[in-house]
Amino acid sequence: MSTTTLAAPLRVIQITDLHLKAQPGSRICGVDVDAGLNAVLARIQDKHPGADFMLATGDLVGDEPEAYARLRQILEPLGLPVYCLPGNHDFPAAMSWALRDGYVRRERHIVAGGWQLILLDSSFPGTPDGHLAYGELALLDTLLATGPDLHTVVCLHHNPVPSQTSWLDTMMVGNHAAFFGVLDRYPHVRAVIWGHIHAEFSAQRNGVELLAAPATCVQFKPRVPEPQVDDLPPGYRWFELYPDGTLRTGVERVAG
Ligand SMILES: [Fe+2]
Repeated sequence: MSTTTLAAPLRVIQITDLHLKAQPGSRICGVDVDAGLNAVLARIQDKHPGADFMLATGDLVGDEPEAYARLRQILEPLGLPVYCLPGNHDFPAAMSWALRDGYVRRERHIVAGGWQLILLDSSFPGTPDGHLAYGELALLDTLLATGPDLHTVVCLHHNPVPSQTSWLDTMMVGNHAAFFGVLDRYPHVRAVIWGHIHAEFSAQRNGVELLAAPATCVQFKPRVPEPQVDDLPPGYRWFELYPDGTLRTGVERVAG
């Protein structure tokens, strides 16, 4: 009998849909935005002291570009990189400027431990709907083509497949066929991850993991036609990315 010992994995944490406001104490659907985020961050620090970096997959602020300064104030003291991409409640230009340096910053491409993570912008000005502009698809194609030996996680804000929650699925990535048209040409894609739906989601497509993480604030009830608040507490998703391409993941929620 032989046993296989996997080398140490890359440890990554995904937080999403913070909806932070410029002033502390705001609520969304009755849920305290700051309290949810603080509880999630405390749990991450407690359970994942060896995390390599975090991903923040959009809706970092709630329609207030001034809130990026608070985002930095809250996340910088964690002392590990937080790589950010925008959602439909963000301001991509203001976000890029506010998060241009330091631990908390907008990023497009991370390479570490035999993996690459590609961060796409699925937001589109003036609409909450998801769309991957030609430049985003071209970036994806280029990075997949030039890193054939890197196991790959593709990160974006909007869901590229139906979440079975019809009011949210009206906003899913509209040109998802073009997106998967690129992915399907590369066998080294291991996962696609997103936020936006404020709920946990997992599925598989052609051997690729399709994963969403719960929000750090309000949770939305899945599989209902109209918006409904779920009574689940805030949470996050953790990943262990092994050099051989093995991906382990799970969702952790804080107390209610
Ligand atoms: Fe959101």
